[in-house]
Formats: sequence, C-alpha cells, structure tokens
Amino acid sequence: MKKTLEYLYSKKVNKIPITMLTAYDFPTARLEDEAGIDSVLVGDSVGTNMLGYASEQEVTMGDMLHHLGAVRRGVKDAYLIVDMPFKSADDPFTACRNAELFIDKGADCVKVEGWSDKKNVIACLTESGIPVCAHIGYNPQIHGSKPQVFGKELQQALDLVESASVLEAAGAALFVVEKVPREIAGLIASRVKVPVIGIGSGESCDGQVLVVNDILGTDERTFRHARKFVDFRNLTLQAIAGYKTEVEKRNFPAEENFQHVEQKVVESVMASLAL
Ligand code: KIV
Repeated sequence: MKKTLEYLYSKKVNKIPITMLTAYDFPTARLEDEAGIDSVLVGDSVGTNMLGYASEQEVTMGDMLHHLGAVRRGVKDAYLIVDMPFKSADDPFTACRNAELFIDKGADCVKVEGWSDKKNVIACLTESGIPVCAHIGYNPQIHGSKPQVFGKELQQALDLVESASVLEAAGAALFVVEKVPREIAGLIASRVKVPVIGIGSGESCDGQVLVVNDILGTDERTFRHARKFVDFRNLTLQAIAGYKTEVEKRNFPAEENFQHVEQKVVESVMASLAL
C-alpha cells in the first residue's frame, strides 16, 4: 500500500510511532521499503555519508537528483522525501524552481531547513502544491556539521515552538525536529496537528528518523542520538578480507563459479589460431 501524508497523519492521531530512515541508493531503499519503513528520506547527509564531502554545504542539486532517482526506483510504498540542499531554497522563487525538479523526479515531498525565517519559502511551495517537511532545531546546512542542541534556553525554546506554529500556518505538512530537548520536542508535537519526526529529540515525537549508516554501523563513529543495530563496518571488512585471502590462495573462483567448454572446441580454437 502506498503510504501517503494522510497515512502518516492517521498514525499521529492514533499515537502509532512513524518510522523514517535516510536512503541514498537503490538497494538500501528497496530494503527499507520491504521492511515497511513509513517514510524514506534522501537526506543531504548523502554528502558526508556517501560522497566523502566535508560538509552538507557541498551537496548540489545535481547530487540530490542523482540519488533521488536511485532511491525512487527502489521505493514502492514508503512516503519519499528529499532534502533541498544548501542554497537551493533561499528564496521562494529558487525554492519552487528546484522543488519542481524533485517532484518531476518522483519525490512526494521536499524538506527545507530553517526556522520561522523560512515562512515565505514554505508558503510558496505549499501554494504551488508541493508538500513540505520543515526541518527545525539543529540545521546542518546553516549551523555547520558539528551537531549542537537547540532549545535548552528559554528564548531558543520559545523560538522553536513559535517557529513550528508559524511554519505550520505557512503550510508545513510535517516536521523534522533535530537535537531539541525531549520536553520541547514533545511540546511542539502536542501543539501542531501535523506529524513531528524527531532525531536526537526523544521519544515524545510522533516518529523517529535516523541516518541509515548510523543504524548499520557503517563507520566507526557513534552518536548519542543513534543506535547501531548491526556492525556493518566489521562485517564488510571481514567479507573483503575473506575475498582477498581466497583470491590470493586461488580458492576463488571455485568450480561452481565458472563454466567449461568441450575439449574438441578448445582444440578447434587452437588449431584455428595456429593457421
Ligand atoms: O540529511 C539528513 O540525514 C537529515 C536528518 C535529519 C535525518 O536531514
């Protein structure tokens, strides 16, 4: 069943946690869809996680379109969200022009980083019929790649709660709330009608999102907000080392990995070559 915004809203209303994960490639997207993840996010974290960039600010529209295409081919049912990369949504006109490219490529929704300052961008996208996920709290494109918590002090907490109301009124269809204290994230989730998906913001949100590399344990880093559900880095290292050893020992390829031709064909080939 294709998961829609209405489906996500019904989960919020029925207090069933919404699941979201990033994906950047076809096979991972297919697995997430098969596992029943509600929403797949082609995050601009593709830059630091998959492309070897130093920061989210290096990610281009071209990068996002390329990875969105791969993920789109892998996702059948999940609600597909794509990040608007650095500078692609600075003003309403630029945002709409770029978001249309994503919608044409198969995205269901675009995600825009920024607090209440993004009101006009979100209003314009919404009026153009493009659903928007507003991303508040810690914004890597704006605040830099080093994660920080937002909303521990009164004024910042009030700014966050106020931003959520302003952006919901502008048309935000859902929220990602990143690195906001649990109490403030829960308050936001209880004040807005649309789903609030948290990352590093506690369990009181309507759902959770994580970077898929972090649940797989693709690299050696660990983050307080995440959990490794498997040690993919070590499994991959073992597989690569095993392959290397077996090739070096001539144990791979083995009999079952290739095919033979009849001896008379070999002799005919040799005879032809000798001519
Ligand atoms: O790009 C990303 O990975 C994100 C996170 C909030 C999941 O935006």
